Amino acid sequence: MNFRSLMMVIDQFIKKIQKRKALIGIIGMGYVGLPLVLRFCEEGFRVLGFDVDCKKVAQLKRGRSYLKSISSSRVSQFVRNGLLDVTDNFSRLTKPDCIIICVPTPLTEKKEPDLQYIEKTTEAIRNQLRKGQLIVLESTSYPGTTEELILPQLESTGLKVGKDFFLAYSPEREDPGSKRFTTSQIPKVVSGVTPDCKEIAAALYGQVIQKVVPVSSPRVAELTKLLENIYRSVNIALVNELKMLADRMGIDIWEVIEAASTKPFGFSPFYPGPGMGGHCIPIDPFYLSWKAREYDFTTQFIQLAGEINVSIPYYVVSKTVDALNDRKKSIKGAKILILGVAYKRDVDDARESPALAIMDLFQKKGAIILYHDPFIPSLPPFRKYHFKLNSSPLTKPLLQRMDAVVVVTDHSRIDYAWIAKHVPLIIDTRNVTKNIKQWKRKIVKA
Ligand SMILES: NC(=O)c1ccc[n+]([C@@H]2O[C@H](COP(=O)([O-])OP(=O)(O)OC[C@H]3O[C@@H](n4cnc5c(N)ncnc54)[C@H](O)[C@@H]3O)[C@@H](O)[C@H]2O)c1
Repeated sequence: MNFRSLMMVIDQFIKKIQKRKALIGIIGMGYVGLPLVLRFCEEGFRVLGFDVDCKKVAQLKRGRSYLKSISSSRVSQFVRNGLLDVTDNFSRLTKPDCIIICVPTPLTEKKEPDLQYIEKTTEAIRNQLRKGQLIVLESTSYPGTTEELILPQLESTGLKVGKDFFLAYSPEREDPGSKRFTTSQIPKVVSGVTPDCKEIAAALYGQVIQKVVPVSSPRVAELTKLLENIYRSVNIALVNELKMLADRMGIDIWEVIEAASTKPFGFSPFYPGPGMGGHCIPIDPFYLSWKAREYDFTTQFIQLAGEINVSIPYYVVSKTVDALNDRKKSIKGAKILILGVAYKRDVDDARESPALAIMDLFQKKGAIILYHDPFIPSLPPFRKYHFKLNSSPLTKPLLQRMDAVVVVTDHSRIDYAWIAKHVPLIIDTRNVTKNIKQWKRKIVKA
């Protein structure tokens, strides 16, 4: 293809996108993929969703949502009007003009990148790749994933990037549970393997996102996403470490952070907690540490932040043991209610939640564990932990039976003053008891 005809192909592709004639394929119908599907449908695009989980596919096809943050009516309207179809048949990957990859990027047991999902997805795309398709990776990964892992696989078909197909990276910035920003309001960093790849990808996201931020290469975009998460991880570790020191000094770290936050420049508050959770912050930084080794480089801040954040559940447990001891109670046989197992407020996601580590540590010490979480009726099996527990209804008799309640997640619909009234001891990892004056002697911050 000569330069002129390539320009024509790109021009036509962008027009097809702008006229909503391009079919969008999204792989991975999870916390990232599903909101993106709906955003494209809202703008009138036809979307074909792909997932290996046939239960999710079946639910979506029936117009049902399995995510708390997304109502079934939002899904069903687009199934009914024909804009949305979902499948586990990956031979249909030949159909979409644009394919967006939103599959998981977890860690192995040894805290190394587990790239099997990206690899399998790339293989599935490779098997169906046709001329004129745009492929975009959204999953978080180390700098080089798009160009070192995906590109060679796709080019092994004989098709050339920037000429026969287009390849881009654009990280996701979903903030689950937050009502402050909708998907369209969060600026989107977009890069491409070639300038034309970037132009097409920017044109695609420009239809559904208010502000697109183009950057010079996929590696820049990949590291941008990691910087955002490492920044949070390091700052959370810093306040968690200071929390332990402040406690020893008899100072309330929350009051310190509140006071420091009045500085109008040069200070952004981060808050301590029970340890780090979720799919991103405890995991993504290690993608960079792993890649850094290839460059004979040790990412010390990431390692240190990881060590501190991993130690916090142990701190919470030890504060609970001490508080029980002060009340002449032993941890062995103590009845403990974990309040909130989601990794953050008002979400139904307990992946990598510090609640799991805390529950495991309590159980190993012989405590009897119950939990209550309005968003998580039962605990599914996790990567590392398997608890066969259902959420206990929050009643006065239940609270009165407990030796302690440990607040791990600060869900907004819980009446913490009512809890404090009925339990003998409340371990507060989130400062939810800040305004409770009456039951101070029952409250221990951890
Ligand atoms: N959840 C977040 O808040 C968030 C925010 C920003 C970035 N991310 C990143 O986005 C990516 C996806 O995260 P998520 O939270 O949506 O994960 P998720 O587990 O909620 O969803 C992933 C989906 O992909 C499916 N899947 C797995 N292997 C597949 C395959 N080979 N083919 C097709 N589908 C497959 C799973 O069944 C699941 O439905 C990760 O890289 C994550 O780090 C997540």
